[in-house]
Amino acid sequence: MDSTLIVGRLQQLGRHFPVTPINLEQTPIRVAVTGPAGAIGSFLCNFIAQGRMFGPYQKVILQLVELPAAEKLLKGLVMELNDGAYPLVHEIIPCTDAMAGFKDIDVAVLVGARPRGPGMERGDLLTANAKIFQAQGEALDKVAKKSVKVVVVGNPANTNALIASHFAPSIPKVNFTALTRLDQSRAESIMAEKLKCNVDDINNIYIWGNHSATQYPDTFHATVKGESLRKVVNDEKYLNVEFVSKVAKRGAEIISVMGKSSAASAASAACDHVHDLWYGTKAGQHVSMGVISDGNTYGVPAGIVYSFPMEIQKGGKWHIVNGLAVNDFSKEKMAKTAKELLDERKMALGF
Ligand code: NAD
Ligand code: LMR
Repeated sequence: MDSTLIVGRLQQLGRHFPVTPINLEQTPIRVAVTGPAGAIGSFLCNFIAQGRMFGPYQKVILQLVELPAAEKLLKGLVMELNDGAYPLVHEIIPCTDAMAGFKDIDVAVLVGARPRGPGMERGDLLTANAKIFQAQGEALDKVAKKSVKVVVVGNPANTNALIASHFAPSIPKVNFTALTRLDQSRAESIMAEKLKCNVDDINNIYIWGNHSATQYPDTFHATVKGESLRKVVNDEKYLNVEFVSKVAKRGAEIISVMGKSSAASAASAACDHVHDLWYGTKAGQHVSMGVISDGNTYGVPAGIVYSFPMEIQKGGKWHIVNGLAVNDFSKEKMAKTAKELLDERKMALGF
């Protein structure tokens, strides 16, 4: 297809893509999505097809892995993706077997898992979902590229990422990450609403720990329009109690309003997460994601998947933002969420 046509198609999608030449010879990125026929998965596949994950000039091969019970829904999703005539979609490979779906992949977005219902905590899903991530870890180990970047969305996301990594010993542990970007986006949007500013004005609210009710959205390093956010808000009780609780319980709030968990916002956050892993963060930009802890950073015990503020280089080499001052209030919150992750690890892996 000629490049003018591709740009034309992308512009029809309503996005403001810069018109620069497209390298039609580029190698497509192989992305596996599990649970593509589900609520998050179907948004995610469409977002990826539209360039939301890898940008408007990067082609993709979508390798979609569903349960046999959802095969018909998967078929329908593929029909719709085809009808979208997305120029960036080089090929779609639908399947019901992770060994086929993970073959030679560059990126895996592991969404397929049971969601919680009203009154449940995400950790309650561990028993139901752990075996999924064991099987998928084993399949990744056997057939994915050793450089594969894995992001776990299915809950409890941090411990599922640890399980998948544990059962994929030939893939570096640093390649497994858990989604806490949705919590970061929620924190920014809640704060922007409070301060009547744009989300872009807010920087460096960090999500520490577990994607659960114990997570700690930390405002001590945050800025609004370059000024200290805490000084601008000037309300300790709001920042330390109400805000923390509002962000940590936003998932449950959505479930109580909609009767089902967040979908489009989770898919959008997964796109941002993978985008930053693939292309790197912008200079000075810090993003939150769950990564394996080494035991030497901010007192977090080794061997759990814990959300930290990160800087990422193009190609996915990440490092945790170092040298942040952490006061006693933050230390206590950070330790509490670490303790929960240690408990989840014990339940899932027995150590
Ligand atoms: P859903 O029930 O709508 O969809 C799940 C899909 O996964 C279904 O199509 C199902 O057939 C499929 N599936 C289940 N087991 C599978 C397996 N072994 N292999 C392949 N596919 C499988 O659920 P949803 O709303 O899309 O949520 C998916 C998961 O994401 C849940 O665990 C939910 O709690 C979690 N979630 C996480 C975040 C986050 O920020 N980390 C945000 C929202 C939801
Ligand atoms: C979310 O944060 O929206 C998801 O983890 C779904 C949930 O169970 O809260």
